[in-house]
Parts: sequence; C-alpha cells; structure tokens
Amino acid sequence: MILAALAILVLTIVLYIYYDNRNHLPGPWNLPIIGYLHKLDPVSPHLTLTKLAQKYGPIFQIKLGLLNIAVVSDAKLLNKILLKDETLGRPPLFMMGVLCGGKGLAYAPFSLWKDQRKFTINFLKLVGATKFSPVRKQLEDVIKNYADDFVDFVETRGNHVTLDPSEALVHYITSVAGTLLLGKSFSRDDQVRKSLMHNLETILQEAQLGGTLNFLPFLRFLPKYRKTLTTFSDTVDKIRECLTVYINEYEKPISSDFSATNLIEAFLLQRSKGGPPEIYNMDQLIHLLFDMFISSTETTLTSLKWIILYLAQYQDVQDKVRKEIVDVLQEKTLEMSDVPKLPYTQAVLTEVSRIRTIIPLGFPHLADEDVYVDGVKIDKGQMIMPLLWAIHMDPRVWDRPEEFRPERFLDDEKKFVSSELILPFQSGKRMCVGYDLAKMMMYLFVAVLVKNFKVEPCESSPIDFSGVCGLSLVPKPQKVVFVKI
Ligand code: HEM
Repeated sequence: MILAALAILVLTIVLYIYYDNRNHLPGPWNLPIIGYLHKLDPVSPHLTLTKLAQKYGPIFQIKLGLLNIAVVSDAKLLNKILLKDETLGRPPLFMMGVLCGGKGLAYAPFSLWKDQRKFTINFLKLVGATKFSPVRKQLEDVIKNYADDFVDFVETRGNHVTLDPSEALVHYITSVAGTLLLGKSFSRDDQVRKSLMHNLETILQEAQLGGTLNFLPFLRFLPKYRKTLTTFSDTVDKIRECLTVYINEYEKPISSDFSATNLIEAFLLQRSKGGPPEIYNMDQLIHLLFDMFISSTETTLTSLKWIILYLAQYQDVQDKVRKEIVDVLQEKTLEMSDVPKLPYTQAVLTEVSRIRTIIPLGFPHLADEDVYVDGVKIDKGQMIMPLLWAIHMDPRVWDRPEEFRPERFLDDEKKFVSSELILPFQSGKRMCVGYDLAKMMMYLFVAVLVKNFKVEPCESSPIDFSGVCGLSLVPKPQKVVFVKI
C-alpha cells in the first residue's frame, strides 16, 4: 500500500516536471516551484543568464519561481518582438505591484499607459526635453548651469580634488529632475530631497528583478520576508509623503490659460481642462512623479559615473574627447546641435553604454497574447526579458566585447556609425520616454567636465569596473581625482 502510494507520488512529480518543462523554446530544466532560481547567481544574475543564452540561443525559456520567462538576447529579434502591440504589457512582478499599484507610467496597465505616455511626451516637449522641442535650448541652459555649479563645487575644494563622483553628482542630477518635475531647485541640504533619494535607493534594492518575492510571492507569509515586505511598504509610504510635500506647494487653483513649466503644473492643468478624474487624480500624480523621478535620476547618474570611470582609466581616450570638444567648440559651450560634429565623443559614450549596460536584465515586458516572430512563438502570459547585457556582449556581434574600444563605432573616415544593435533604452512603442533628456544630460555634463578637469584614477586604488547589479548596474563606491586644467 505504502509502496503504491510512493510510486504514485514519484510518478506525479516526474509528470509534473515533464509537463512543466515542455515548451517549444529551448532552455534549461526547471525544478518544481522554484524553477531555475537555485542556480541564478544572486549577485550577477545577468552573467548566469548570459551563459544560458550562449548555450540555448537568441531566445530561450526559463522559469524563475512562478514566472515563465522568454529570455531574448538578440537585438534584431528583440526589436521585432518589442514592435508588436501584443508585447506592450508588464509582467506581474510582486514587488512592482506593491510599488506601483497599477498606477504611474512605467508599470501602468494598457489604457492608463496610453493616456499617460502621450501626456508625458507632450510634457517633455513642453519643457524642452525632446529633440524637436522649440524650447530645447532653454532646457540645455538649465542643465549647463547645473554642470557649471558642479565645476564650482569641485573648484572650491582645490586644484587637485579626490572625490567619489556619485556623491558629488547626485545633487546636480536630482536638481535637473527637481526643476523639471517638481518646479523645485533643491538646496544642497534639502532634507525632503535627501529622504526621497535615500528611500528610492532602498526601493531599488528590493524591487530588483533578482528579488525573491517577485518570483515566489507566497514567501511573504514567512517572518523573514514579511519583514522585507513591511520595510518596502513603509518606504513606499515615505516616498509618497515626500512627493506630497512638493505637490502641496501648488495649492493655488490653476486656470486653463496657465502655462505649465513642470510636471506637477502640467498634470494639474490637464485636470483643470477636463482630464478624466479616474486618471487625473492625486494618487496617479504621485505615482507618475515617482516613475519619472526614479527613471530620470538613477539611470542618468549611473551612466555618468561609468563614463567618468572609463575616462579616468583610459587617459588617451579622455585626451581625444577633450581635444575634439575644444577644437569644435573653441570658446563656446556645447549645444546638442553640435553633437553630430563630435564623432569620437559619440563613439565613446556609445561604447560605455555597451560595455556597462545600465539595465543588464532589461526592463521586462509581458506577452498579452500569443506572439509569433521569425517562426518563434512566445506564449500568452509569458514574461519577456530583454537580456541587454548578453546583447551588448555578444562575441558574434562585437569583436572582443570585453575590450573598451570606442573605435568600433567609427568608420574608415572616422565618422560615427550608430548601431541598431545597441539598445540601452530598448526599442518599440514602450521604449524609454526620456531618451532625449538622458542624452542631453550626458553630453552637456561630459563636455563641461572634460573642458574643466583632467580626471585621473586614485594612485592608491585601481578603478573597479565590476559594478553592483540591482535593477541597474551601478559602479561600486570609489574615488577619482579631478585635476583643474
Ligand atoms: C541613461 C539613461 C536611461 C536609460 C539607460 C533608460 C533606460 C530605459 C529602459 C531600458 C526602459 C524600458 C523600456 C521598455 O519597457 O521597453 C525605460 C523606460 C522608461 N524610462 Fe528610461 N532610461 C534612461 C533615462 C530616462 C530619463 C531621463 C527619463 C525621464 C524623462 C526616463 C523615463 C522613463 C520612463 C517613464 C519609462 C517607462 C516608459 C513606458 O513604460 O512607457 N528614462 N528607460
């Protein structure tokens, strides 16, 4: 009797594993319930998945906990997948659900997303943060002023200053975001901003794709994970409180002929013009501000940090960037319309975005329907993971991908050659909405920086390029030397 029961149990488990692993996409074997989680490197999940991509090809299937994922590591295939309307959704990651609650923009469900994406693009155009905005030049001046303030900050400390660029830059990058989104120019010791940034960092650690609760949400009933969840929810509440402080400064009623200069004003104006109350309400405004603040500061700051570290390590590259910028600009400051005249600088910034992919696991999508691309089927309900790290480090596409070589983006005449195989902002209808703003901040800051300083590694400690992988791949805290030119 016992033997028969055991045999049935074993058979059930074998059948379960067999059916669970049956899929038209190739991929590793997954254990019941946890899937492949036990083999995923918690510190560098992008490296585990890149190894699997090398084994199973441009699209493979994996289970992480309860989530069934199609991992895509080929840029052309990914571009085709992300162009489809059926892949516009976001997967039900538990912590993202707690964080966004179906509101905001980055994790909004389709109907809300459609309205808020359009609203946000119009807003970005209004404040000069899109390529063809008539007021782009004004925003460039705002960003350049903050970059100049950064120079002043370093200069007041001497001609040979050793500091961690993150600590110094965070104030200026969040100030650009504060001006655009909240209409607020932060003072250096603004306590609400400090609390906002601290809480955002806590959230990013917990919400990351590697976070266990995203894949095994039922674990939240265990004490250890209950505590994680409580801390997370409390932090979300604190962020809401910080943003509410800023929103409350706009108590005055907004007339319909008012001209908005920041996101809060644009949103309140849209509401006063009859924007549907189920969208244009305070909860949505808080979530939208949250999405825009976190997306615009964290990624841009991380990109700039990597750029500075690579320029410090590769002095010859830095010298060439400086020479190109000085030759082209002479005494004037950089404008975005000058960028096409800077092929080497473009190649350097592109190469940094390739070799240190800011979002190594990409930002996930969901197949809302069965999707067919190039003869491959992605099932309805499957999460799509754009494995950007593997795309940018694919040895079949990039000759010796581990080497930092900006020249790979220059042709024989030293003209910059852009590539559709570099996708730091992903692609398709849900591609990063802040692409132009991010580029503005990076080019304008780098130009001011290299014209004013020579950046060098610290003699005592070599530069560490390994990074820490959360939602984004951030450099480890480390100092470089700013030498006044
Ligand atoms: C170097 C800087 C940046 C990088 C690498 C980056 C990367 C990305 C990526 C990979 C996505 C996911 C796209 C997709 O789902 O297919 C994304 C989405 C998004 N980004 Fe960025 N981003 C950057 C800067 C910015 C800035 C400056 C803003 C603010 C203006 C911003 C706002 C957003 C928003 C709101 C979304 C969600 C879009 C949607 O769901 O429709 N990002 N970004």
